Amino acid sequence: MSDEHKQTVREDDLKGRRLFVKMGVGSIAIAACGTGLFAYQFMYPSVLYEPSPVVNAGKPDRYPADSVTLDAETGIYVVRSAEGIYALSAVCTHLGCLTAFKPELGIIACPCHGSKFQKNGTKIEGPAPKPLPWLRMWMNDDGDLLVDRSNPIAQKQMVRV
Ligand code: FES
Repeated sequence: MSDEHKQTVREDDLKGRRLFVKMGVGSIAIAACGTGLFAYQFMYPSVLYEPSPVVNAGKPDRYPADSVTLDAETGIYVVRSAEGIYALSAVCTHLGCLTAFKPELGIIACPCHGSKFQKNGTKIEGPAPKPLPWLRMWMNDDGDLLVDRSNPIAQKQMVRV
């Protein structure tokens, strides 16, 4: 075998080794990236944060005397009567449609299947199996009305203003 041929074989052998070294380094880099990605996901788990069930309904003077105010975003009514202020769920107890106050009739009506309720939530007619539930309402130290949507109350309670 000539010297020239031996040198060519040695150069080919070196090129092959360099290729394997590059492939090895590339594999380690890909594995390191994958490990880093999983570590990041482990440190920041997927958690669904739900909004607080407590709603700030604002100051009492926001609600005129003898009024029913719907907050469609939170699904509550704030009712101001001569006795005080209270909160009702605006979600129909039949199949969960959002009800609406009808000022010309003085009642709350469900647009889906026709259930009707008095301003205090009592059912008048329709397929709804229960009255609109009262929600716990209280006043905080700043004078704002707070309503807990997750907490229907059995006993009717009002905030006196
Ligand atoms: S959802 Fe209200 S009457 Fe059916």
